[in-house]
Amino acid sequence: MKFFVDTADIEAIRELNDLGMVDGVTTNPSLIKKSGRDILEVTKEICEMVDGPVSAEVVALAAEDMITEGRKLLEIADNIAVKVPLTWDGLRACKVLTSEGYMVNVTLCFTANQAILAAKAGATFISPFIGRLDDLNIDGLDLISDIREIYDNYGYETQLLAASIRSANHMSECAKIGADVCTAPPNVIKAMANHVLTDKGLDQFVKDAQDAGIKIV
Ligand code: E4P
Repeated sequence: MKFFVDTADIEAIRELNDLGMVDGVTTNPSLIKKSGRDILEVTKEICEMVDGPVSAEVVALAAEDMITEGRKLLEIADNIAVKVPLTWDGLRACKVLTSEGYMVNVTLCFTANQAILAAKAGATFISPFIGRLDDLNIDGLDLISDIREIYDNYGYETQLLAASIRSANHMSECAKIGADVCTAPPNVIKAMANHVLTDKGLDQFVKDAQDAGIKIV
């Protein structure tokens, strides 16, 4: 399973990228706002640092305007994936841009039917949002399973990019289901390393090493 980092925070991306934990990056207008940076500048910096796809989202609502914005974003670097919303206009923009050989990430997916349409429109990635469904007491992981099953039934090549990930548990569950990619905030990726028994065991080992005067160098 590939790891994308869901942030526009350059230092957070750098830290994970240096560890080989970054296969790509996803951003959205809210994350760009949080960064306080100009979208074109910050996206360029991310693209220079990361080898894999970097999703940058359009803000227009009409297909023609999304395509124009998408072309502008594509000028930033070769590894840009244009992110469009799962609306009828977004699907039209997706079809045009993918037909020209560009990567498109169709975002804000909340149903299996939406995911089928994105695959038919040639999307490179489909982004179903787990956490925002969980917030409504609908199990977001069920949607990931449903899309996996449907895409496998028909051999759709669109990559299943699990998004709106809120916990380390979401990551392992998505890996079990067979998501192609998970995009998660840096704190969630780092939380995957945590376990209370690891902390407890390490405390004991440190104490015993001190008691026994163990010195290696
Ligand atoms: C995906 O590409 C989105 O940027 C993101 O995962 C949304 O997550 P949120 O629901 O936590 O805002």
